[in-house]
Amino acid sequence: SNRIMLGPLVAAIDQGTSSTRFLVFNAKTAELLSHHQVEIKQSFPKEGWVEEDPKEILQSVYECMDRTCEKLTQLNIDISNIKAIGVTNQRETTLVWDKETGEPLYNAIVWLDLRTQSTVERLISKTPGRNKNHLKHKTGLPISTYFSAVKLRWLLDNVDEVAEAVVTHRAMFGTVDSWLIWCLTGGKSGGVHCTDVTNASRTMLFNIHTLDWDPELCKYFDIPMEILPKVRSSSEIYGLMVSPGFQTHKCLGDQSAALVGQMCFQDGQAKNTYGTGCFLLRNTGAKPVMSDHGLLTTVAYKLGRDKPACYALEGSVAIAGAVVRWLKDNLGIIQTSTELEKLAASVGTSYGCYFVPAFSGLYAPYWEPSARGIICGLTQFTNRSHLAFAALEAVCFQTREILDAMNQDSGIPLTQLQVDGGMTSNRLLMQLQADILCIPVVKPSMPETTALGAAMAAGAAEGVSVWSLRPEDLSEVTSEKFEPQINPEESEFRYARWKKAVQRAMNWET
Ligand code: G3P
Repeated sequence: SNRIMLGPLVAAIDQGTSSTRFLVFNAKTAELLSHHQVEIKQSFPKEGWVEEDPKEILQSVYECMDRTCEKLTQLNIDISNIKAIGVTNQRETTLVWDKETGEPLYNAIVWLDLRTQSTVERLISKTPGRNKNHLKHKTGLPISTYFSAVKLRWLLDNVDEVAEAVVTHRAMFGTVDSWLIWCLTGGKSGGVHCTDVTNASRTMLFNIHTLDWDPELCKYFDIPMEILPKVRSSSEIYGLMVSPGFQTHKCLGDQSAALVGQMCFQDGQAKNTYGTGCFLLRNTGAKPVMSDHGLLTTVAYKLGRDKPACYALEGSVAIAGAVVRWLKDNLGIIQTSTELEKLAASVGTSYGCYFVPAFSGLYAPYWEPSARGIICGLTQFTNRSHLAFAALEAVCFQTREILDAMNQDSGIPLTQLQVDGGMTSNRLLMQLQADILCIPVVKPSMPETTALGAAMAAGAAEGVSVWSLRPEDLSEVTSEKFEPQINPEESEFRYARWKKAVQRAMNWET
């Protein structure tokens, strides 16, 4: 047949909170050749609870792989040229399964889930000086509902099957990366139980200095260490995929992958990814830097077994794209996500309406689990278009708060912001973001940077070596720049109002 000769290909599984994707890249040019995406269902069994079905997540991966391979075959591209598969994933989301049956023992508890709020408050109240940063010197993280340890604790305490599986030595814990890699490499007949340093650094059981599980932290949360996966670097061969016979896996938490995909390899480089949430990471090089302004310290990547770890400061915003889904699914004021931009653009202002979507409490820089969402500044005049605009503005204001914290921590202000993720196709949002930050916003023309980063880590792994990680070896990446268009006073005025609204959301339950 007339197969097209392209040289080595590298693929990535991108398992996000809202959807799963499989993407195939040309390893020489970084060109995206084909991909497929499937939406993931979320269930909200109780107020504040967010769950997903581990089997549906796995099935969605298979479906995306099958469909992408079909598309490639139709394009006459030989799928046997796929040399490696990288995995990148929603982080923190917690699963426990039975290694003998291969069955999940409960739904996946999603990172946004708030069921552990009272546990978190109790843990904080027991620390000297009620200090939420009590474990930060080891983990880089505040005690919060966000991270895996408290979710795992909940599973051990509340799900009999999980407790029983621990006693009978059949339980395996993992974040989504571990679950997928275990299943794809054979599951109950010999699957590899591992994770990488970036995902491990979000569990609160991992010491970011020694790069290993920490016995003291495990004791603190009373987690049996034998259920934890083995921690590996983010770029090495973990195992062989059983079917359809593809070679390998490497993995990176999705936010780390985006940092790699944006080629932020230098100390000081940063990116902001707009997905379900919104995550701004700034590379701080070989040294973990502790924040004085409510940011997290996290492992950015470790690209090879013998390579040093690189760290990042991270500002995490829980609700970004999720607010769009909420306007669609809960309020029904739009039918599709793309309608939001049109609706908001039709008014071009929120008309003094401010919307703080603190659905899962507030993350950085506040870390306040008891905050709740608030919409204020309503008048008779306000309509759904203003609300749509306020929702987009909320994403931008939250990013501004993170950027301010980042600039204060590092003392070197960012002069522009590199962005990526699904929401960046919303041009109004990009322009608003530049206006509210008062610096240019730069977006790559290929927005799937997270998957690209995972593919790069996979293609560059020892034993695969089909992809160079040197930025100068990659063909010109084209990008688009949004310059601030409103005057800074106007921007500051709106930001000050936003901060007032945040204060009201914060004190909601007291
Ligand atoms: O920490 C959660 C994050 O990894 C989720 O990313 O892309 O699903 O918003 P995303």
